[in-house]
Amino acid sequence: KYEKIWLTFGIGALIVFLVVLAFGAFYLGTHPQSHGITIDPENIEAEESFKKENLGLTKVDEGKYVLNVVASAFNYDLGTDEEGKPVKHIQIPKGSTILLQAVTPDVVHGFNIAGTNANMMVEPGFISSMEVEFNKAGEYTLLCNEYCGVGHHMMFATVEVT
Ligand code: CUA
Repeated sequence: KYEKIWLTFGIGALIVFLVVLAFGAFYLGTHPQSHGITIDPENIEAEESFKKENLGLTKVDEGKYVLNVVASAFNYDLGTDEEGKPVKHIQIPKGSTILLQAVTPDVVHGFNIAGTNANMMVEPGFISSMEVEFNKAGEYTLLCNEYCGVGHHMMFATVEVT
């Protein structure tokens, strides 16, 4: 019967469609925002942006910043201040754009600035990067949203927009 053939075909097409949809969601949800840029996790400092002295926030132009971060268990390294203390708080003027660049030498970490669209996975071997605009004043928390071990909850920093 023709009806049976069409029904089978219809269900088959639906399954193919759902599989494509599920795969697409999975791929988008899990792939780091690296665009294929790789880095040796054993030698992160080989990359200029991730040398110790280049970590943290750098102003590149009026309202334009770059934030280089090394995420590791269980810390976000944003460089050190003048006193040599680790930076855990950064400040930018409202309306600024930050190019976020993050790598990890160990395991998969998250990189989420709550309340913004900054949400990346940081995977060993890849440079994750994305640009974010901060148009609302306030204090935002950068946190790890991928479970990475016992100190997972200690991975955070703050971004103050004034
Ligand atoms: Cu790093 Cu969770």
